[in-house]
Amino acid sequence: MTHAELSAIDACVFDAYGTLFDVGSAAKRCTDVLGAKADALAVQWRTSQLHYTWLRSLMGRHADFWQVTGDALDFAMDALGIADTALRKRLMDLYLELSAYPDATVALTALCQANRPAAILSNGTPKMLAAAVKSAGLAALIDPVLSIEEVGVYKPHPRVYQLAVDRLGVKPERVGFVSSNGWDVAGASSFGFRAIWVNRAGAKTERLPAKPIVQITRLDELPALLGI
Ligand code: LAC
Repeated sequence: MTHAELSAIDACVFDAYGTLFDVGSAAKRCTDVLGAKADALAVQWRTSQLHYTWLRSLMGRHADFWQVTGDALDFAMDALGIADTALRKRLMDLYLELSAYPDATVALTALCQANRPAAILSNGTPKMLAAAVKSAGLAALIDPVLSIEEVGVYKPHPRVYQLAVDRLGVKPERVGFVSSNGWDVAGASSFGFRAIWVNRAGAKTERLPAKPIVQITRLDELPALLGI
């Protein structure tokens, strides 16, 4: 990382799920029913959800993220031997009101106060994203909220990252793309964004082409990096 790379950032574009919103929070809020299976369900649900986005994109069989999220939940519940339609509905409803990470709110507030543009670019449907942003109290802090539904293919297809360039009117090299997902960081960096990896989980580095310019562990480290 160089100071020049960070000072070249005019706009920040954030991934949503796992970066701003805690995707594990839905299962955690159902521990009364899930008990010790809550963590395993959260991991399998997220893993299958991502696999289905990549596989559907490769197959040319797009379905929106609400459908994919439900399909992934059905697989995860089946894999863990859970058959409970009321629980399925509760988990899907909770996906519309995931908790935001407290450090995400801190970072977005600082960017907003400094008049620095901040947007979302996510696999989520417009409806899912609007619900999550509203329920997490982030609506005044982030704009625009861009969904891959506008291009009909999932991350990390370059067309997805191009959507942010087109809508923000900022050159790729002047976009700081912020994600907790190593594969999304690789996709965004490969496209030409300056990618910032929020490595919340202390994950190992993905062996994929293109790297982040910097790695942080929490989003509240971001404002200082950007000179705010
Ligand atoms: C998203 C997924 C990748 O928000 O977390 O796009």
